[in-house]
Amino acid sequence: MLDKIKEIREAMEQELREAASGDQLRELKVKYLGKKGSISELSKGMGKLQPEERPKAGQLLNELRLKLEESLSAKQQELAEKALELKMAQEKLDVTLPGSPVKLGSRHPLTVVTDEMKEIFLGMGYTIEEGPQVELDYYNFERLNLPADHPARDMQDSFYIDAKRLLRSQTSPVQARTMDRLCPQPIKIISPGAVYRRDDDATHSPMFHQMEGLVVDEGISLADLKGTLLNFVRQMFGEEREIRLRPSFFPFTEPSVEVDISCMLCGGKGCRTCKDTGWIEILGAGMVHPHVLEMSGYDPEKFTGFAFGMGVERIAMLKYGIDDLRVMFENDVRFLQRF
Ligand code: DAH
Repeated sequence: MLDKIKEIREAMEQELREAASGDQLRELKVKYLGKKGSISELSKGMGKLQPEERPKAGQLLNELRLKLEESLSAKQQELAEKALELKMAQEKLDVTLPGSPVKLGSRHPLTVVTDEMKEIFLGMGYTIEEGPQVELDYYNFERLNLPADHPARDMQDSFYIDAKRLLRSQTSPVQARTMDRLCPQPIKIISPGAVYRRDDDATHSPMFHQMEGLVVDEGISLADLKGTLLNFVRQMFGEEREIRLRPSFFPFTEPSVEVDISCMLCGGKGCRTCKDTGWIEILGAGMVHPHVLEMSGYDPEKFTGFAFGMGVERIAMLKYGIDDLRVMFENDVRFLQRF
């Protein structure tokens, strides 16, 4: 009996040392401590022992059972700790690894160009003025010297909302609104924003953007207009650019001019973009019509002013060599990523 206990004890210790998983431990528990396990079997054999041998054998068996229970729980603890350590090692974060790049959006080319235009004029001391996109017919036409029955109103096919209101067809109404507000103070403003016309082709869109400019003060002349626009054009398109003024007509300016810049592609020699003329038209401008000044309360004997209006899309197309206006509004990511 004693030999048997010793044998089991040794086998058990060996197996415990080798056990490497919770499952194996559970198997060992059944094998030794279970109802049909080795220790139970031994206990059953106690009856066959001599009475004087029994206490000793009983004690040894008890010790064996206790020893096994302790070892099992110690081993279990050890395995659990090892498993935790392994898990921690596997889940360790290396904070020095480079991050994965986040894709950044970019600004729309129209925003880029508008901001650049604003910067140039802000640098010349202009402030920014905004006007409503749903505009009164009164400001969009009448206050710009186009009375209700003026044939020039047919020039612009507009989106009317009702008899009195429309989506503004130009940023020029901001001129009249600003003059009303500031008269008799001097004015030096630009006004960028969306405008709407019934047009839709490769060079016209029903919604596009303009930037208006207005300067009103004593002693303002056409030379001031020309100097201002030359400065703008050179900052926008390069120091080598020249401008020329051609006589034109707008009801709210007198005289009126159309402004061309020397072609940035051929430098003025003539190419496809400038249709072999060496010049590209970029904006309309003129001296504010005395009647327009008067309607806001400015004395045209004392005050003079110049105004200009240009298409932002047109400036962007010239600057980036884009030949179809519609790409500006389709928002194809491949196009937008160029900016
Ligand atoms: N509003 C004109 C247009 O839409 C552009 C324009 C021309 C604005 C001459 C002006 C100007 O301020 O003086 O075609």
